[in-house]
This record gives sequence, structure tokens and C-alpha cells, in this order.
Amino acid sequence: MPGKTFTLLSLFVSLLFLIGFSFSSSGDYTVRKYVGTKKCRKCHKSEKQGKQYQIWAESIHAQAYETLQTEEADQICKEMGYGEKAVEAKECLQCHASGWEVDEEMWGPKFKIEDGVQCETCHGAGGDYTKLKIMKKFEVAKAKGLIDLRDNVEEFCRNCHNPDSPTFAGFNFEEMWAKIEHPLPFRHKKTKTEEQ
Ligand code: HEC
Ligand code: HEC
Ligand code: HEC
Ligand code: HEC
Repeated sequence: MPGKTFTLLSLFVSLLFLIGFSFSSSGDYTVRKYVGTKKCRKCHKSEKQGKQYQIWAESIHAQAYETLQTEEADQICKEMGYGEKAVEAKECLQCHASGWEVDEEMWGPKFKIEDGVQCETCHGAGGDYTKLKIMKKFEVAKAKGLIDLRDNVEEFCRNCHNPDSPTFAGFNFEEMWAKIEHPLPFRHKKTKTEEQ
């Protein structure tokens, strides 16, 4: 099945760029430390800020690693020829977790691979962008590794929600985004009032 191998390999490579590395404005690739969801929680849990932490913690993404620890997952993994344990197969981890692709030295003290598809899986490794001064300036944060997701959110989701997922059953973007959306209320005031 050379075709399949090729697809997985190219997905693997594109996810490496998506997850582990970030493209800084100067054009060089930098590997940054993962700080973990607890670090983001400090500033992203209040009502005023929009409770991004709670929204994520209650989402299925937070359980994506646990899912790999089930018998069902090991069974799929074996059938596909990736080994006995799904949590040890990069072919499964690539869509179910962060941090597996870097040396563990790049894990901060609060980072947990068990957090599955976590803040930094989508927003980029936070080692250099979580200081308040940096977070407040989008362009500066981007240069420090925050990934710009403002455009093409759907295309971004489809990096994982696609037929390369062994259990793929389709992806309705509007419906799925509504389940995990976590905006900054002060930035989206207008939309909220219009909805009421
Ligand atoms: C020291 C506090 C602090 C920490 C820690 C922090 N943030 Fe933030 N973050 C903020 C604040 C404040 C804003 C709103 C900035 C503004 O005023 O527009 C923000 C904005 C953001 C935005 C929106 C960026 C934009 O301008 O569109 C994202 C995404 C984000 N944070 C992700 C994260 C992630 C992921 C982590 C953990 C790796 C994290 N933050 C950790 C304070 C923090
Ligand atoms: C890094 C890979 C990855 C990315 C990127 C990703 N997801 Fe997921 N998503 C998953 C995995 C893995 C699961 C299944 C987790 C489980 O069942 O344990 C999932 C599950 C979900 C679910 C729950 C499924 C259901 O039927 O309710 C929703 C909703 C969802 N994702 C929405 C999104 C949206 C919206 C985006 C884009 C903003 C997105 N995802 C981006 C990997 C990803
Ligand atoms: C499955 C991918 C995914 C995960 C996991 C995720 N986010 Fe997001 N996040 C997005 C997308 C996509 C957007 C919308 C694009 C944007 O506004 O930047 C977004 C938007 C945001 C915003 C709001 C920006 C705004 O303008 O309103 C903040 C703040 C944020 N995320 C923080 C976090 C934090 C903190 C976590 C973890 C607790 C987290 N995100 C987990 C994908 C994700
Ligand atoms: C291309 C990304 C991707 C890859 C690679 C991937 N998954 Fe998933 N996985 C997902 C997504 C997204 C979901 C949510 C349901 C769906 O749309 O497939 C999911 C859901 C699951 C579920 C829950 C199914 C359910 O709904 O009950 C299991 C179990 C699972 N994956 C196991 C695995 C195993 C084992 C591997 C490695 C052989 C793997 N996945 C590789 C993206 C992926």
C-alpha cells in the first residue's frame, strides 16, 4: 500500500510543522517548549476572559489521549500494522496528542501528554508567547510561536478530521465548531448582543 504510506507520511510531515514547530516572521523554524494547559489556565479561566480552559477541559479533545488507551484503540492499531499499543504509535499520536514529536526536555513542568488535543496542539507550543505583555500583542505573539488561526479555521480542523482517521465518519464544520468555540468575550461583544 505505497499510496497509503505516502499519505500518512505527508500528513505526518505537515503535522510536524503544524504542531511542533512554528514559522516565525523572520522565516526560521524554531522548536519551542510545551508549557501545558495548566499554564494557559492561569489567565484563560475567568468569566471575563471567556473560560477557554473550562470549555476545552469539558470537550472530547481533552480525552483524545485516553481514547488511545482503550482496547478498541489497540485493536485498530494492531489491525493497521502500527504495533500493539496505540499510545506508543506515532501514527495515532499525531492526531490525538501533543509533545510526542519532541524530546521530553522540551516539556515544561506542567506539560502533560495525557491532556490529548490541548491548547498548544492548535495554538502552537507556548514556551515563548505566554507572558502577558506578549499575549496582548498578536503580531509579537505570532513571532514567538502563537499560530495564526484566524482565517481558514475549517481547513485547520480538517488536518485531523479527515479520512486518514481510522474511525472517520464525516465532519460538519459548523456543528463541530459550535461544540468547542471559545472566544474572548470582550473582543466579540457585538456578536453576543446580536444573538440575544
Ligand atoms: C499571563 C496570562 C496569560 C497566559 C499565561 C496565557 N495567556 Fe493567552 N491571552 C492572555 C490575554 C490577556 C489575552 C487577550 C489579549 C488581548 O487583550 O487581546 C490572550 C489572548 C490569547 C489568544 C488570542 C490571540 C489573538 O490575539 O487572537 C490565544 C489564542 C491565547 N491567548 C492562547 C493562549 C495559550 C494557548 C496559552 C498557553 C500556552 C496562553 N494563551 C497563556 C493572557 C495569557
Ligand atoms: C490535532 C488533531 C485535531 C485537530 C487539529 C482538531 N481535532 Fe477535533 N478531534 C480530534 C480527535 C483525536 C478527536 C476524538 C477524540 C476522542 O474521541 O477521544 C476529536 C473530536 C472532536 C469533536 C468531538 C466529536 C463529536 O462527534 O462530538 C469535536 C466537536 C471536534 N473534534 C471539533 C474540532 C474542531 C471544530 C476543530 C477545528 C477548530 C478540531 N476539532 C480540530 C483531533 C483534532
Ligand atoms: C482544536 C483546536 C483548539 C484547541 C484545543 C484550543 N483552541 Fe483556542 N482557538 C482555536 C481556533 C481555531 C480559534 C479561532 C481562531 C482565533 O480566533 O484565533 C481559537 C480561539 C481562541 C481564543 C480566542 C481568540 C479570539 O479572538 O476570540 C483564545 C483566547 C484561545 N483560543 C485560547 C485557547 C486556550 C487557552 C486553549 C486551551 C485551554 C485553547 N484555545 C484550545 C483552536 C483551538
Ligand atoms: C488524521 C488524524 C487521526 C489519526 C491519524 C488517528 N485518529 Fe483516531 N480520531 C481522529 C478523529 C478526528 C476522531 C474523532 C472521530 C472521527 O472523526 O474519526 C478520532 C477518534 C478515534 C477513536 C474514537 C472512535 C469513536 O468515536 O468511538 C478511536 C478509538 C481512535 N480515534 C483511535 C485511533 C487509533 C488507534 C489511531 C492509530 C492507528 C488513530 N485513531 C489515528 C483522528 C485521528
